[in-house]
Amino acid sequence: MLDPARFDAQTFLRDYWQKKPLLIRNPWTDWHNPLEPDELAGLGCEPGVESRLITHGADMPALEHGPLPEDRFDTLGKAPWTMLVQAVDHHVPAVADLIQPFRFIPDWRIDDVMVSYATDGGGVGAHFDQYDVFLVQGLGRRRWRVGGLCDDTTPLMPHDSLRLLADFQPVEEYVLEPGDILYMPPRYAHEGTALGHDCMTYSIGFRAPSLGELVDGWTEHLVDQPGDDDRYTDPGLAAQDNPGEISEAALARMHRMITERMGDTQAFARWFGEFSTSPKPSEIDWSPEEQFSPEDVQAALDHFPMLVRNPASRFAFVAGEGDAVTLFVDGQVYECDQHRADAARSLCANRALSISAEQARADSVIDLLTGLLNNGCIAFEGEPED
Ligand code: SIN
Ligand code: CO
Repeated sequence: MLDPARFDAQTFLRDYWQKKPLLIRNPWTDWHNPLEPDELAGLGCEPGVESRLITHGADMPALEHGPLPEDRFDTLGKAPWTMLVQAVDHHVPAVADLIQPFRFIPDWRIDDVMVSYATDGGGVGAHFDQYDVFLVQGLGRRRWRVGGLCDDTTPLMPHDSLRLLADFQPVEEYVLEPGDILYMPPRYAHEGTALGHDCMTYSIGFRAPSLGELVDGWTEHLVDQPGDDDRYTDPGLAAQDNPGEISEAALARMHRMITERMGDTQAFARWFGEFSTSPKPSEIDWSPEEQFSPEDVQAALDHFPMLVRNPASRFAFVAGEGDAVTLFVDGQVYECDQHRADAARSLCANRALSISAEQARADSVIDLLTGLLNNGCIAFEGEPED
């Protein structure tokens, strides 16, 4: 939890979000580091988990992609190094909990929590990111140096795989202790260097679709829709003086065909819900080995009325008419009205859902829960694992 006296979300959104960096000195009511270095190292060695190792030799830093061989840590020597593990929140609920205080920003804007571990002097080097990030110091100390805004023309070092700044000019410098947070808006130059060993930093990273991604995804979706009959027609065609002219009327008709289809805001909302909750192609399939039937779910709810979200699953909804909502989970669409909509809203707001006796009797709710359980998006709380 964040202490409201030390961090005010409204002031932050008004003065800093997407505007300028902010150092927030330990705003937590009771900070403790949610993950041990060796647990992180274990994740870095697991297949299906995205990890990187950056070592600093005499010359340029070198990058290795995970999964790292377990004995890699024994061969690292004394030179500074850092390991970075992506989407740790998907695997460690205590790390997923770090996102909770920042949920005044909508879930669909949140990407993941990346966790880094560095030895004395380790870091990824001076760079800029395209997205906002809260850099939470978990363990040990890190010196952050912050520079100005960068763009596509900012000179980079000649490196095959790391986008490091060729000419970093720091204007601010901070030393972060456990619990301190540095907020960085997109495209600000920054460089974090571990001061002493066992430095862990949690990057709560956001995402924002680029225009290219939106146009690409939305038009691909439109093209995939059946409707080849939806073709240019011109009844009432007027005879043309010059047959070589593409007339203004023909152009206007075709342009209208496109803009009408592209301008369908309801279809866009549905597509965006699917798009923004879809797992990345590399992500793990969490569906259980044995599928549940609606009867299994109804029976299990008698003993386990509490359901918990898979921390790796993305939930979002779009409000419809009246009480209805369209729920999106991991790229799947669930139309919800009445009872089902209450459960859907609740699942989007909270990480756990207690099913009432009334909800457990509603077939539409049971069907929704069965679908979510079978896709691995939720699980019964307290159910013995097999
Ligand atoms: C780190 O944790 O070392 C890197 C985080 C960042 O600069 O984005
Ligand atoms: Co960065």
